[in-house]
Amino acid sequence: MALLAFETSCDETSVALVHQGCVESNVVSSQVRLHAEYGGVVPELAAREHLRQLLPVAREALHQANRGTEEIDAVSATQGPGLPSALLVGLKAAQAVAFVLRRPFVGVNHHEAHLYSPWLQGSPPHARFEEFVPNVSLIVSGGHTMLVHVRSELNHAVLGSTLDDAAGECFDKIGKLMGLVYPAGPEIDRLADLGNSTAFRFPRPMLNETNDDFSFSGLKTSVRYFLRDHPELLDQQLVRCDLCASVRAAIIDVLVQKTIRAAKRLGVRCVTASGGVTCNRLLRRELATVCSRENLELRLAEPSLCTDNAAMIGILAERKLLLSGADSALDAEIKPNWILGCSPA
Ligand code: KG4
Ligand code: ZN
Repeated sequence: MALLAFETSCDETSVALVHQGCVESNVVSSQVRLHAEYGGVVPELAAREHLRQLLPVAREALHQANRGTEEIDAVSATQGPGLPSALLVGLKAAQAVAFVLRRPFVGVNHHEAHLYSPWLQGSPPHARFEEFVPNVSLIVSGGHTMLVHVRSELNHAVLGSTLDDAAGECFDKIGKLMGLVYPAGPEIDRLADLGNSTAFRFPRPMLNETNDDFSFSGLKTSVRYFLRDHPELLDQQLVRCDLCASVRAAIIDVLVQKTIRAAKRLGVRCVTASGGVTCNRLLRRELATVCSRENLELRLAEPSLCTDNAAMIGILAERKLLLSGADSALDAEIKPNWILGCSPA
C-alpha cells in the first residue's frame, strides 16, 4: 500500500510517502526562522506558511518517492492535537486528495504517531514491527512532554504529562532569558558540552513525586530570579557555558529518572524516546547509560525523525489500516485538544 501523509500540527509542513513500512520520502519544511523574531510559534503565521508550502512539499514528496498520484492507495493527516488553524490546512488538503482519488482517508493522533518514530531505522527508514516489544515511551518536544505505556501496537495509556511548560519550551524560555536565538534548545546543548554541570544547582521539579507528571515552569522561574540577581554572570562566556550545563543537567535528570522509574515499575524491558528534545546529547547519553545499567533495551528516534514529520503519521496510518481496517470520514474535523487514548469523536 502506498500512503500519502500530511503533518501540519505546529510549525513544520511535512508530506511523506510510505509503502509497506518503508519511508520512500519524507519532506519537511520548517518554519523555525519565520517564528524566531517572535520567540515562539505564531499560529496565524504558521497556518499561512503551511498554505504556501503544502503543495510544493507534496509535489517534492511524490517526486522523491518516484510515484504519481495514480499510485496512491490511501491518504492520511494529523487530526490533532495541535494549533487549530495549522491543523486545518493539512487535514482539509489530505481529505480533498482522498476525495478526488477516491481513496480511504485516515486521521491520526500526533502523539500516537510519535510513538512510532523510534521504530523507524535505516536509510531509507523502515519500520521494524517484528522487533516490537511493550515499552515506556518519552515524547518530549517544545509542545509536549509525556510518558506513555505502550502495551502493544495501537494499545497504550498516557502515564503522565507536563502540568505547565514542556521541556523544550523550558529550554527555549531560559535561552531567551540568556539572550539566545529561538529555539534555544540546540544552542544550550552545544554550550553545555563546554561547561560544568555542577557549577549551579537548579531544582529538579517533581523528581521526588511518585507520579509520572512533569513541571518545568518552576525551573525556568528559578533561573529567571538567579539571572535577575546575578546579571553580570551573563557577560562571562565560561559562566554562560556552566549555566547551560547546569540547566541542561536539571531538565535531563528529571526526564531520565522519571522515564526509567516508570519502565521499572511497569516491568517493561524497553524504553523509547522521540520529539525534538530527543536530539539533546545529554539525554541520549544518559538514557543509553542508565538503560544499559538497568538491562533495558533503548530505542531513540533518529535525530532527523525526532522533530515533527509526516513519515511517522504515514507509518501509523498504514498500521491502523492494516491492523484495524479503520478509516476516517472525509468530513472528519480537526481535534486540537485530542488526548491520546481517547476517541476523537
Ligand atoms: O519536535 P519539535 O520540532 O516540536 C515542536 O514543535 O515543539 O521540537 C522542537 C523543540 C524546541 O523546543 C527545541 O528547542 C528543542 O525541541 N530541541 C532541543 C534540542 N534540539 C531541539 N532541546 C534541547 N537540546 C537539543 N539538542
Ligand atoms: Zn510533535
